[in-house]
Amino acid sequence: MALFIDSSDPKEIQELFAWGVLSGVTTNPLIISREAPDADLGERIREILKVSHGDVSVELTTENEKDQLEEALGYHAWNPERICIKVPMSEHGLPVVHALAKKGIKTNVTCLMAMNQAYLAALAGATYVSIFSGRVKDMGYDVRSVISSTRNVLDREGLPSKIIVGSMRSMMDINEALEAGAHVPTVTPPLLRKMVWNPRTESTIEEFNSAWRNRGKKK
Ligand code: E4P
Repeated sequence: MALFIDSSDPKEIQELFAWGVLSGVTTNPLIISREAPDADLGERIREILKVSHGDVSVELTTENEKDQLEEALGYHAWNPERICIKVPMSEHGLPVVHALAKKGIKTNVTCLMAMNQAYLAALAGATYVSIFSGRVKDMGYDVRSVISSTRNVLDREGLPSKIIVGSMRSMMDINEALEAGAHVPTVTPPLLRKMVWNPRTESTIEEFNSAWRNRGKKK
């Protein structure tokens, strides 16, 4: 089991890795455009590599096989051990995944909404297959069955790809993904902070600390 952070903010990533619960980072072009519109991608990813450990997913933005392969090799060179090439699911993406897998380069096939897509990605040699919980739910489908059927097929066929579930919007999404068989939920910093918090925990701690502060005082 592992938990990844879905962010490109080095400060936030450093702070949250200190909790000891994270083992990787996922980014995408939308996250980086929102968080750092003017950033140089290479510099941003190198900063992330410095303050984290484990795989760091960087997504391809070119749109044909030849350009994607070239783009992927460029990102891979930044840190061959830890960079994981995020390849959007498509007919030209699959051969890219396959070619990278043959070179021993890690891949994360992304934007998956259905088990059949995840199965193809796994067959092509993906290290990770990323199912998008919130976006599946937006379409009115039950993401739990997408995750659990993908997990069943991977296990039955002995395919080594790990299921990342991203696009998480609530605590319930995380819990459902874990119960349905996700290997790796990836969560945004605000969601990770919410996972810590519970009103009953807060009131219990306050009750204990107040008893301690007031010990020995007559009521
Ligand atoms: C996962 O790897 C993606 O970066 C991400 O979770 C996408 O989520 P969104 O639906 O919030 O864009």
